[in-house]
Amino acid sequence: MNKKVISVGLIGYGTVGRGVVKILEENQKIAFRKVGKPIKIKSICDLKPIDKTELYVNNFKSIIKDPEIDLIVELIGGYEPARTIILEALKAGKNVVTANKAVLAKYWDQIFTAAQNCQKSIYYEASVGGVIPVVQGLSEGLASEEILEIKGILNGTTNFILTEMTQNGVSYQDALKSAQNAGFAEADPSFDVNGIDTANKLAILSSLAWGGWVKVKDISTKGISDLKIDDVLIAKKFGYDIKLIGSAQKTKDGLDLSVQPCLVHHDNAFATVEKEYNAVMITGKDSGDVLFYGKGAGQQPAASAVVSDIINLSKFIVTNTAGIVPDVIYDKRKKIKILPSGRSKSPYYLRFKVSDKPGVLAKISGILGKYKVSIASLSQPNADDSEAQIVIITHDTLKENFEKALKQIDATKSIVKSKTVKIKIEN
Ligand code: HSE
Repeated sequence: MNKKVISVGLIGYGTVGRGVVKILEENQKIAFRKVGKPIKIKSICDLKPIDKTELYVNNFKSIIKDPEIDLIVELIGGYEPARTIILEALKAGKNVVTANKAVLAKYWDQIFTAAQNCQKSIYYEASVGGVIPVVQGLSEGLASEEILEIKGILNGTTNFILTEMTQNGVSYQDALKSAQNAGFAEADPSFDVNGIDTANKLAILSSLAWGGWVKVKDISTKGISDLKIDDVLIAKKFGYDIKLIGSAQKTKDGLDLSVQPCLVHHDNAFATVEKEYNAVMITGKDSGDVLFYGKGAGQQPAASAVVSDIINLSKFIVTNTAGIVPDVIYDKRKKIKILPSGRSKSPYYLRFKVSDKPGVLAKISGILGKYKVSIASLSQPNADDSEAQIVIITHDTLKENFEKALKQIDATKSIVKSKTVKIKIEN
């Protein structure tokens, strides 16, 4: 390539976009050393009015059409027009960098089919785990591996909230507000707290690992918005923290996919992951466990990952080889078998609110036994005169059996006073 400069068009000038401009400017020398040419942002636009920089253009279409631009960075987030921008950019012969997990998870098939057809590259490291190089780790570092399992704390906002609640006794609402002020949360924070953001990221890693398209709708997803401080505190006494865990496990009957709050024992590596940090454990057949850890949210970590993508992709742009070999092998004929969520097995934490009367415990254990739910331990914290709480830790249980048992228990008003709390225990 005879061009003197790699020209970048930036679409999206919010928190991460501004960070990208700053880091690229400050780290010009580092980028030059790696690429052998300077990398310059030629044009910037956003959907909202912005404090205009000299690079400002008022329409993303003019950036896509600009023949001088080699690489388009999409940082506007959401589904549309992000999807259109990515597809149009590829069609126009541009390579793309994006941090947009929602659009990738939802349109994985369209986007990577288009990239293959157009022989262009899409890099998306910042879409999962902020600055953690987990996409590169999975696609390159572990390229030879048969992946058996991916498990992780993939959302900085929820991890920040849970850390604040557990360690500092901060209320859920106040912790969420701090996460928003720090720039960790999504524009609509319900995506964070309802587990959707984690499911998007898990879908991306799983699609990459297993070479098909794992859809968000196939991931049984529960967030942290219903979590009670009582359970956080009881769990702590039992030696556990509660973490929002995304998990994809290969089983002989299909992929076992879930996002849910889990009790994680203090000895487990995930228990040490605090605040906006994320961690992902990838288990390969030959590699065994490989743990990735780092800041999962925030302007600088996300922008750093985007700039690393720009630099890495520029190396291929310079040699005119970007996208010749697809970065993501997406074969639409490959169907990924999904394990029905009821067939998933694990131990559970159960908290029953019951009347403090003789025979209640016998009834609960009787129903659990009928559905083959085996009790590992039992305690009765914070009992008062009229009401009692029973906390049960089960052995490994088939989810569908366990759901049936709880349905029967919760329907029996002579046993329980409110809906039973159930939280998976991470092995
Ligand atoms: N809202 C996301 C999080 C941002 O909290 O992890 C990074 O993807």
